[in-house]
Amino acid sequence: MKGRKKWGLLLGSLGLALVTLTGCGSTDQTRIVRIGHNQSTNHPTHIALEAFKDYINENLGDKYTVEVYPSELLGSQTDMVQLTQTGAIDYCIASNAILETFSKNYEIFNLPYLFASTEAYHNAMDDPEVTDPIFTATEKAGFTAVTWLDAGTRNFYTVNTPIESPADLKGLKIRVQQSPTNIEMMRLLGGSATPMGFGEVYTALQSNIIDGAENNEMALTDNGHGDVCKYYSYDMHQMVPDILIGNNAFIEGLTDEERAIFEEGYKLVNEIQREEWVKAVENAKEKAQNEQNVQFLYPDQEPFKEACQPLHESVLANNAAIVPIYEKIQEYNELYPSVAE
Ligand code: GCU
Repeated sequence: MKGRKKWGLLLGSLGLALVTLTGCGSTDQTRIVRIGHNQSTNHPTHIALEAFKDYINENLGDKYTVEVYPSELLGSQTDMVQLTQTGAIDYCIASNAILETFSKNYEIFNLPYLFASTEAYHNAMDDPEVTDPIFTATEKAGFTAVTWLDAGTRNFYTVNTPIESPADLKGLKIRVQQSPTNIEMMRLLGGSATPMGFGEVYTALQSNIIDGAENNEMALTDNGHGDVCKYYSYDMHQMVPDILIGNNAFIEGLTDEERAIFEEGYKLVNEIQREEWVKAVENAKEKAQNEQNVQFLYPDQEPFKEACQPLHESVLANNAAIVPIYEKIQEYNELYPSVAE
């Protein structure tokens, strides 16, 4: 992983150096549009971005050539957000978790047990009244969110300790994403938070630097974490979306007509990724159970939920701007109350 990452970074830097040398990454006729992400080429996110690439190439191929860079080839998500900020690349996919360090408004979607069900989550994320104030909050930082992607439900998984209640997390080092909200969540649940980038997790699990992590089912199979971790507990603590962000200068430089086509492309990313996601999670669960011998546990979620509640209060008290959004989300929670597994 590490070796691959270094090569990736090297190739990425070489590519970017070339971009600078050749001026804005344009070939003779077309401007190259670079999109980076940290998933494999089997992942729903990559499949959706490939569809975006084809759509733009079909509709604006005389002007733009989209290139998709998977598997942290251009660096970790944090690296890629910074490259998108400066315009060294044009788009990347970042977990909502790490975006809160660029704008506090993103904290809201990192709150544990924010959404009562998958339906409440999807409907809220599809409502511009909910997402607009967040997606545009990083304009000054040089980028804007253009759509969201499903990343399922995050649950704890460990090498050898079944997690049945928050008490089982005590003394365990659990990898979390690099976000203050996630670190605080782990503190409230009693575990020891170990923040690190996604690409580092497999090696950290294998070498016992950490005892476990938390993520959706795909991390078990697509990232191999299920080869090492044998217990996956559906405590359902978070539904954290992934976000497609784009460099502002690039987006603003598009003509109205081009922009309309790019916007259709963003919609396509959202639709295809969500469709693929449902199948991918089902397959991941089956594979983890049958081929990796991962045991799935279904603990009572209430004690986890109660432990995390103070985080809702502190985040809302520190950012009045997200209170109306939080209230709007509660309306969706009332409409779609039950947690669908
Ligand atoms: C999920 C999510 C990624 C994120 C990763 C992580 O896979 O889709 O965007 O980077 O979790 O835990 O870091």
